[in-house]
Amino acid sequence: MQLLIREGTLQDLPFLRQMLFEAAYWRPDVHRPALQEGLSQPEIAKLLADWGREGDTAVIAETVMSQSVGAAWYRYWTDDNHSYGYVSADIPELGIAVCLDWRRRGVGNTLLSALKQQACQQGVESLSLSVEKDNPAHNLYLQHRFRPIEQVGNAWTMVAPTGIGIE
Ligand SMILES: CC(C)(COP(=O)(O)OP(=O)(O)OC[C@H]1O[C@@H](n2cnc3c(N)ncnc32)[C@H](O)[C@@H]1OP(=O)(O)O)[C@@H](O)C(=O)NCCC(=O)NCCS
Repeated sequence: MQLLIREGTLQDLPFLRQMLFEAAYWRPDVHRPALQEGLSQPEIAKLLADWGREGDTAVIAETVMSQSVGAAWYRYWTDDNHSYGYVSADIPELGIAVCLDWRRRGVGNTLLSALKQQACQQGVESLSLSVEKDNPAHNLYLQHRFRPIEQVGNAWTMVAPTGIGIE
C-alpha cells in the first residue's frame, strides 16, 4: 500500500490527539481508559495543549484515500513547563504513533526519517524523547541514532542528532 508523508497542519490536531493516546497508553496488556478520559489526564493533556505554538511540527502518514495512519511530531518545552523527555529548551521533544493495523510495515520508520528531515530544515540539531524501557519503540529509536542519556523511573530519556552537519 502506497503511503504519503505530508506536513501536519492545525486540522490534524484531532488525529494527533488520537496518536498521543496510542503513545501514552501503548501497553497492550493494560486496560486503557476511554479516549477523552485518557487524554484529559493533566500530564497527558498538556502535551498537545495550544498546539500551533512556534516550533510545533508534525508529519502525517496517510493513504492515497487521505486516511491518516500515523504521525510524528515535536515541540519545545521550558525548564518551568515540560514533559517527560525534556532535556533543554533548545531540544524539542518527539512523540510518535502508528494506528494499530498499520504497525510493523515501516510507517514509524518513514515518519521518523521525515520528521528528522523537517527538523534539519528548521535548524534543529537534536531531538529528545522519553520511552519506557520495555516499549518496543525503543528499537526504532536506536535505529534512528537515539541514545539514552538518563534513566527516569522505568523510562529512558533519549537524544539523537537530526543530521545537521553530518555527511
Ligand atoms: C512505535 C511505533 C510508532 C512503531 O511504528 P511501526 O510503524 O510499527 O514501526 P516500523 O514498522 O517502522 O518498525 C521500525 C522498527 O521499530 C522496531 N519495532 C517496531 N515495533 C516493534 C515491535 N512490536 N517489536 C519489536 N521491534 C519493533 C523494529 O526495530 C523495527 O524495525 P524492523 O521492522 O526492521 O525490525 C508503533 O509500534 C506504535 O505506534 N506503538 C504504540 C505507540 C508508542 O508506543 N509510541 C512511542 C511512545 S515512546
